[in-house]
Amino acid sequence: MINTIKSPKLILAIETSCDETAAAVVKNGTEVLSNVIASQIEKHKLTGGVVPEIAAREHIKILPFVYKEALEKAGVRAEELDLIVATEKPGLLSSLMMGIQTARTLAYIHNKPYRDIDHIEGHIFSNWLKRNPEEFSYPIVTLTVSGGHNNLYLLKSPTDIQLLGETQDDAAGEAFDKVAKMLGLAYPGGPSVAKAALNGKENVYKFPQPKLKNVFDFSFSGLKTSVLYLIQKLTKHGEKNLSEQEISDIAKNFELTVAKNLTEKLLKAAQQFGAQEIHLAGGVSANLTLRNYINEQKPENLKFRYPEEFSFCTDNAAMIAAAAYAKLNRCH
Ligand code: KG4
Ligand code: ZN
Repeated sequence: MINTIKSPKLILAIETSCDETAAAVVKNGTEVLSNVIASQIEKHKLTGGVVPEIAAREHIKILPFVYKEALEKAGVRAEELDLIVATEKPGLLSSLMMGIQTARTLAYIHNKPYRDIDHIEGHIFSNWLKRNPEEFSYPIVTLTVSGGHNNLYLLKSPTDIQLLGETQDDAAGEAFDKVAKMLGLAYPGGPSVAKAALNGKENVYKFPQPKLKNVFDFSFSGLKTSVLYLIQKLTKHGEKNLSEQEISDIAKNFELTVAKNLTEKLLKAAQQFGAQEIHLAGGVSANLTLRNYINEQKPENLKFRYPEEFSFCTDNAAMIAAAAYAKLNRCH
């Protein structure tokens, strides 16, 4: 295995940490030549969530088609690649293994270097895709908020990344997924709750905000429990169903509570560390209420970025290539 990789211009990345089978070819860390995502959502809708064994089997079945499509769409032959990478962690172990083994095998066959990449670093660098990183001003405070993680980082440069806080229990996306299930809405919960919330009214229900020792940590299990208690109260413990309006009002007030909590921590960190920019990433960064709330609350001169395309918010392989490039090219 080659250990020193200089300027890997053309990277093939594979991402299989959860229920998306993804491959992408990215040039110079920002130019997305292809970004193929085969979602298993339909498979997991039946169970209302991801079953690890089913996810892993599905990955291995479709991965060869997915990476070939990524190369074809990019108009790149495997021989032309400078580097092959895959998501190493965190995620479902059996699913991760499928991506890593495929990427390693490809690297071996084509005599290319291989690197493991951290999934959450991938989310951080999703904000580099289709952008010019030379325009970025540091320090940057980045909030990565997904189904599996909820972290706040201080970036003094692309290679100086400090964790400021993380969730003590559920991640915000997980709370969206669980609340959706309680409300009888479809998986994945984030988009379903957001859709239901469109018809909801503000200030109908009040949910608590957690008090934590580290102000930059997060907790969403208390909020989830208070939604459950409210549903039990409104349905008289299952004697009757929630009305459409009640579902929408719960969704709206839950979504706003999450948005306020995330925004407060993001802006507090930005102020404390003198951030020039704030970045939002991960599946929940697709949420428009959250984006709007941050925009409303942030100081005018603070630059706010979220991924350039919706497909860069949820799990994708282009962000894994972007993280690999940032790690290996320490020039800016
Ligand atoms: O980053 P991601 O694809 O996977 C993980 O790394 O976990 O994030 C998936 C999460 C799910 O919990 C999903 O419900 C949430 O992101 N999500 C959203 C929205 N779209 C996806 N949450 C709120 N609003 C959305 N529009
Ligand atoms: Zn993710």
